[in-house]
Amino acid sequence: MNNDKLVIFDTTLRDGEQSPGASMTKDEKVRIAKALERMRVDVIEAGFPIASQGDFESVEAVAKTIKDSTVCGLARALDKDINRAGEALKHAKSARIHTFIATSPIHMEKKLRMQPDEVVEQAVKAVKLARSFTDNVEFSPEDAGRSEPDFLCRIIEAVIDAGATTINIPDTVGYNIPYQFGQLIKNLLERIPNSDKAIFSVHCHNDLGLAVGNSLAAVINGARQVECTINGLGERAGNASLEEIVMAVRTRQDFFPCDTTLDTTQIVPCSRLVAGITGFPVQPNKAIVGANAFAHESGIHQDGVLKSRETYEIMRAQDVGWSANRIVLGKHSGRNAFKTRLQELNIEFNSEHDLNAAFSRFKDLADKKHEVYDEDLQALVADSNWSIENEHYKLVSLHVCSETGETPNAKLVLGIDGKEVKAASDGSGPVDAAFRAIESVVNSETSLQLYSVNNITSGTDAQGEVTVRLEKAGRIVNGQGADTDIVIASANAYINALNKLMLSEKREHPQHGDV
Ligand code: KIV
Ligand code: ZN
Repeated sequence: MNNDKLVIFDTTLRDGEQSPGASMTKDEKVRIAKALERMRVDVIEAGFPIASQGDFESVEAVAKTIKDSTVCGLARALDKDINRAGEALKHAKSARIHTFIATSPIHMEKKLRMQPDEVVEQAVKAVKLARSFTDNVEFSPEDAGRSEPDFLCRIIEAVIDAGATTINIPDTVGYNIPYQFGQLIKNLLERIPNSDKAIFSVHCHNDLGLAVGNSLAAVINGARQVECTINGLGERAGNASLEEIVMAVRTRQDFFPCDTTLDTTQIVPCSRLVAGITGFPVQPNKAIVGANAFAHESGIHQDGVLKSRETYEIMRAQDVGWSANRIVLGKHSGRNAFKTRLQELNIEFNSEHDLNAAFSRFKDLADKKHEVYDEDLQALVADSNWSIENEHYKLVSLHVCSETGETPNAKLVLGIDGKEVKAASDGSGPVDAAFRAIESVVNSETSLQLYSVNNITSGTDAQGEVTVRLEKAGRIVNGQGADTDIVIASANAYINALNKLMLSEKREHPQHGDV
């Protein structure tokens, strides 16, 4: 085992997708998986195959596509879950099954209703079954952060004997504090007699804002795999953010005894892709990938940075993928220039049809906007409207009237399964009027949970990127739209959310079941 290497296990496609509204289609997952592979992520957790037919097919599609990263599927410690994960991963060049069972007193008693002895027995059985599919098996004692250390030592020793090659210690509810979590890892490594036979990993949630701190404390104390997500996406307050972990370790090589083998220049493009697909925008002051992460507002800082960058910057913007030369294309740029720039940005298309669709969207954008930046191109390809095959609803045209002293009004034509329907409505503003007009024909019975607008680049000709979150009968989806006209972007985001609701299917949550 190479003790200098920190393994990066990305769970954006599994735990990240457990954020309300972040569900992704199979094609979107494959696109993100390719971006993670390009970044040289070691392990990609592609999903929870037993959750639904769609989840199974997504994991299978990622397993068939990805060649340079290990593809992992999650399974509870149940035969049916493990068999399904094994089946979904059968085409993977390198496959891992990740099986888990809860070990904290509260989870064993209230959720599992099982005795500790039964939990150990089930964990061992699960690991042995997983080993019949692959020799790369990860075991997690769920809620390890609130489990008894003696019981953790007992179950971990047993599952390593049964063939687990990675032991992941999750702080499932984000309860731990860095010093204490670091000591837990150190103690487990010291006390478990066969701990040298497995890589120890951590998986921290951010309920107290400590997911990255806890993960790094674990690395200092011997963990050699970190589970994390792009932009810190994940259940509730999210998971440890990949970009923060990777850049902390890379920047402080004077302190950490190990490093990742990631290509960090892929971080920003990957962050934008995930934000665009999931509809979870990145806050401007987010470390590494926020729009302000390398911006210097105060005069003193600007002066210092101009004299010597190191006065206020500890990392180089270009090392995490912020490109210096961002003006790329205009309305006279042809298909070749468009394709070449996308290739330089590592944006690939599944088919000529997708490339042509994106090029025609680019032409529309370049007609409205003088300069098209890399960020515009990334939003253009991340926009899910064109990638949803067989989309049910489509905005054909929109006319809004907004005048001082008058009630705003929207008139639109909506395509419904290829048939055009007209609608009109007043509203408190043009966006409200457009949403009401759409609702007057679709009658979706949804509730609007979130509406947000961000500018993609600076300037008043910038595209507005709109996120709309809709809820219906407990199902939550995020829709996205981008346009130089924010009312059009809003209507598209609303329609995108409606289309996603039509696509989303009932699925099982890995951690809410009986076992
Ligand atoms: O947070 C958690 O405990 C998990 C497990 C399934 C590893 O996501
Ligand atoms: Zn988790």
